[in-house]
Amino acid sequence: MCGIVAYIGPREAYPILMKGLRRLEYRGYDSAGLCLLNSDLKVFKCKGKVSDLEDHVKDSDISGNIGMAHTRWATHGEPNQINAHPHFSQNKSLAIIHNGIIENYAALRSELMNRGYAFTSDTDTEVLIHLIEDIKINEKVSLQEAVRIALNQVIGAYAIVVISKSSPDKIIAARKGSPLVVGIGKNEFFVASDATPIIEYTDNVVFLNDEEIAIIRRNDELKILTVKNQEKTPYIQKLELSLSAIEKGGYDHFMLKEIFEQPRSIHDSMRGRLHLEQGLVTLGGIRDYEQKLLNAKRIIITACGTSWHAGLVGEYLIEDLARIPVEVEYSSEFRYRNPIITEEDVVIAISQSGETADTLAAIELAKGKGATVLGICNVVGSSIARATHAGVFTHAGPEIGVASTKAFTAQVAVLTLLALLLAQKKGTLPTSHFRRLLVELSTIPDKVEQTLKLNDKVKEIADIYMNATNALYLGRGYNFPVALEGALKLKEISYIHAEGYPAAEMKHGPIALIDEQMPVCVIATRRGTYEKVISNIQEVKARKGKIIAIINEGDETVKNLADHSIEIPETEEILVPLIATIPLQLLSYHIAVMRNCNVDQPRNLAKSVTVE
Ligand code: G6P
Repeated sequence: MCGIVAYIGPREAYPILMKGLRRLEYRGYDSAGLCLLNSDLKVFKCKGKVSDLEDHVKDSDISGNIGMAHTRWATHGEPNQINAHPHFSQNKSLAIIHNGIIENYAALRSELMNRGYAFTSDTDTEVLIHLIEDIKINEKVSLQEAVRIALNQVIGAYAIVVISKSSPDKIIAARKGSPLVVGIGKNEFFVASDATPIIEYTDNVVFLNDEEIAIIRRNDELKILTVKNQEKTPYIQKLELSLSAIEKGGYDHFMLKEIFEQPRSIHDSMRGRLHLEQGLVTLGGIRDYEQKLLNAKRIIITACGTSWHAGLVGEYLIEDLARIPVEVEYSSEFRYRNPIITEEDVVIAISQSGETADTLAAIELAKGKGATVLGICNVVGSSIARATHAGVFTHAGPEIGVASTKAFTAQVAVLTLLALLLAQKKGTLPTSHFRRLLVELSTIPDKVEQTLKLNDKVKEIADIYMNATNALYLGRGYNFPVALEGALKLKEISYIHAEGYPAAEMKHGPIALIDEQMPVCVIATRRGTYEKVISNIQEVKARKGKIIAIINEGDETVKNLADHSIEIPETEEILVPLIATIPLQLLSYHIAVMRNCNVDQPRNLAKSVTVE
């Protein structure tokens, strides 16, 4: 949450900063601000989106070739102009932008108030910049040293950039717990929360590690110090990211583009891992940990949001195919509930962004207890990718729409490969069954492509239910996580209250809600508990609920019962989530568009949740 971008070099900073902010807006969009240094330190900020900031600065002098900008997702203090970043120090000689939370801000704030500092905002960030100023003046040290000393007093998470009026050739950036990337161009540097604002200028980047401070000087080499004052050699990496991957490519929204990318993203997540001819699965990233997984007493999957839903599919897959006990934990609960974790456990953390604070904390907890921790992550170089012992990347490509779509199916594809790999090594599946699953898995990208052709049909259904106030999603077995994910998508982007339920549990509560106004989306694909789901549909019909059924092609039985049906290609039961999720994503998308909701930036949400 919160996006940071900064620039120093020969060009005008403003256009680079604004373009960067737009690319980072998925991280937060309740207020935005920027700071330019051109003899004076000028700060502009306002409530609202990056476009509002653009309007706000319209008639101002925005020249300068050093600057920084911020798009905010409020934690401390309501989203208004005063709380927007950048924040000045008391004498207005320093400015800061910050992503994260300073947990001991209250204690630091009262200490500074006793020393005569006045606070204009409710943010934790303002505390930090006053503290830096106080140290700089009283200890008569350089800017970087003042930042370093201040960071030693801070508890919490931060990615910060600091600019000083008296140092027009220098930017100081630092991170702990919140991501920060430095891009190295020709005589110029870029700093950002992720690589997307940097990619069009350079592909040489340094991902800062926790407690590292980057000292970035015009026409000089990048210098990295730790907060404990050790010098580090910058590890320059080549970015493998294309510009087209982060643009809308003709679609109205990133979400729609990402839904339509799924045949490719699922394929990419399996490429080089599923070997049809040889009849095997390989996952290079965790090869050294295969034995550990096979001997694990249990696997604990930890994640948040949509990634947690993928984890639930993973539990069904691994227990079903490889017969290894699996637990799925919300990272936020897991980290605080004193869980039993042993050295014989393997923890798998799933995260699209690789930056989710609770998942990171769960990883540290598990590592501290001696468990092996593996990651399933979409962002190379992210904090989670680096904090885990090993892992498998989902190659979904950058996901920019706040509601996760292609990352989910890529995670499920990787978990399917993992379950198959473990099953093969453990010998828990007859070879013919294993091979059949492998062949079927290889056809999934095509079947997803076919499913996407149902877009118009889904849109018609969306039109009928766009004014619903509630919706229920039901599924059993592998389709239960699909129901959860379908409901989450709808509520996230259309603000319609929606619940996902195991179909049989409906009669223990949600059935009380059903009346003729209530759309009930049932995933009723053949196999598994198909007959039982039909009974659940009957129960809804008996109470006049409206059934939207996701069924297999040619299923006349459910088609005759349902008010609307969406016919998806038939596949193996264990692979249904990869296909059945698609129409539910489309349904949420169209309903949200029809309700005039901001699909890519739903209210109050952020894509990368770097606060707990
Ligand atoms: C936020 C996003 C969700 C995402 C969740 C977990 O809530 O809006 O789309 O599923 O965080 O994020 P992660 O990056 O760890 O998968």
